[in-house]
Amino acid sequence: MSETKSCGASRREEFKDLNPVLDKYAKVPGSLITILQQAQEIYGYLSVDTINYISEATGIKPAKIYGVATFYAQFRLQPIGKYLIMLCKGTACHVNGADRIEEAVCEYLNIQDGETTEDGVFTLNNVACLGCCSLAPVMMVRSNDGNETYGNLTKDKVVQILAEIRERA
Ligand code: FES
Repeated sequence: MSETKSCGASRREEFKDLNPVLDKYAKVPGSLITILQQAQEIYGYLSVDTINYISEATGIKPAKIYGVATFYAQFRLQPIGKYLIMLCKGTACHVNGADRIEEAVCEYLNIQDGETTEDGVFTLNNVACLGCCSLAPVMMVRSNDGNETYGNLTKDKVVQILAEIRERA
């Protein structure tokens, strides 16, 4: 009995960042996508363990959760790279050449939006407005060290930034 309790407790501990989300939404009908979005925001992707934990909390079968997660392109079932590039494709960035920046990133890293480089260093994610439009075009790079924002990007500048990050990865 006490074993079951401590196992449950350590599992709750393992998902301690997700628990507040589940406390708020688990029993609210129609909240699965919100839960999955926030789980991905916390862990970077939706692991089998995370999906099972969400299933236990919500009572929704894992197969149904997988169905939703694979239906929407925004959800990732594989781990992301060490550095997550969030490339802004919002209006201000678009007008200021975000497509050219994306082209340069894709060419340099040999990946497309949503993919991870073979060495596991970078994942590219196109996102909507990052909230610093005056610096357009902008990207944010997320790692264990936090978020770094890079603005006024050019094709050369973005490649140079990625090369520097790769060197220290
Ligand atoms: S549109 Fe890119 S930061 Fe706002």
